[in-house]
Amino acid sequence: MLIQDMDKDTPVRAGHAVAVTDLTKEFGSFTALSELNFHIDNGEIFGLLGPNGSGKTTTLNIIAGLSVPTTGKVAVYGLNPREQSAAARRLMGVVPQETALYEELTAEKNLTFHAELFGIPRRERAEQVKRMLELAQLSDRAKSRVSSFSGGMKRRLAIARALLHDPKLVFLDEPTLGVDVHSRNMIWDYIRKTRDEGRSILLTTNYLEEANALCDRIAIIDHGRLVVLDTPTSLKTKYGKSVIEITLHTDVTEGLDRTMQTVPGVQSVDRQGPTLRLSLGDVDSGAVLPHLLQLLDQEGSKTQRLSLREPSLEEVFLALTGRGLRD
Ligand SMILES: Nc1ncnc2c1ncn2[C@@H]1O[C@H](COP(=O)(O)OP(=O)(O)OP(=O)(O)O)[C@@H](O)[C@H]1O
Ligand SMILES: [Mg+2]
Repeated sequence: MLIQDMDKDTPVRAGHAVAVTDLTKEFGSFTALSELNFHIDNGEIFGLLGPNGSGKTTTLNIIAGLSVPTTGKVAVYGLNPREQSAAARRLMGVVPQETALYEELTAEKNLTFHAELFGIPRRERAEQVKRMLELAQLSDRAKSRVSSFSGGMKRRLAIARALLHDPKLVFLDEPTLGVDVHSRNMIWDYIRKTRDEGRSILLTTNYLEEANALCDRIAIIDHGRLVVLDTPTSLKTKYGKSVIEITLHTDVTEGLDRTMQTVPGVQSVDRQGPTLRLSLGDVDSGAVLPHLLQLLDQEGSKTQRLSLREPSLEEVFLALTGRGLRD
């Protein structure tokens, strides 16, 4: 379906699925979102990462046209989701935080009902529903009532439902909240496949691992403000640190501690009994390790254990907000 077919007068901004400009949302005297600015590229998985109550769902609801901004504006493929709601709605597929399925209907009926709602022609409906059930790996449960499904199965069905009318932009609000690892992996694959089909995805999560594994870019929000926006790799390189931990057979001497501090790339050294912890600056750990091993050898220090920890998004979050995601 061509966007131009639906509204010939509305220019479609190439490259941007979503543009958010100076978005502020107040609930009475409480400011839930404050001056948010960002855009989502066509064909990317964009993550909104933040602790509970930071404003993720509020942002998503406004972009999806389910809630109005107090000030500022959003555009979805150049459309105003409130004023051009019919056209915008056809471009979007929403999986809300609380998966609103009809519990007393079967999986197949839930999808068929949605297909009717979105005006999918009768002759295409059955085929499309079948395809979506296969994608969600629920074909064998097509005739079962949703009330008998596990949390993970319901999530998968909700995602299948959101994709049924072939949207260009998919909203996933905490897609793996409370599901087991098996369903989580299935959902992750499903999300990647959806992106690879050329769709754009806005995903909210408060799982750092999920943001790291899935997102092309991440916006960290805290108290309704955008803290940072970048790729997971850049965030980790800019705000995280690699740490090398070396345990020797004997206690670390002050001399060795001092020598280690002279190694290019080593930012700080922490010594405790036989263990050295070296925090690296903005360097590749692979460039530092050979040098370290050579020095240890020269000093006659025998290594018992050596481990390398890559920078994590946990650290990034801590560095930028001063606390952990679940404090
Ligand atoms: N309809 C509303 N009326 C009043 N306050 C609201 C309303 N909706 C959200 N809020 C408040 O706005 C803030 C942001 O809520 P929001 O649901 O967007 O957070 P969230 O990041 O999605 O959190 P969670 O991780 O718990 O889903 C919270 O403090 C919430 O209490
Ligand atoms: Mg939420």
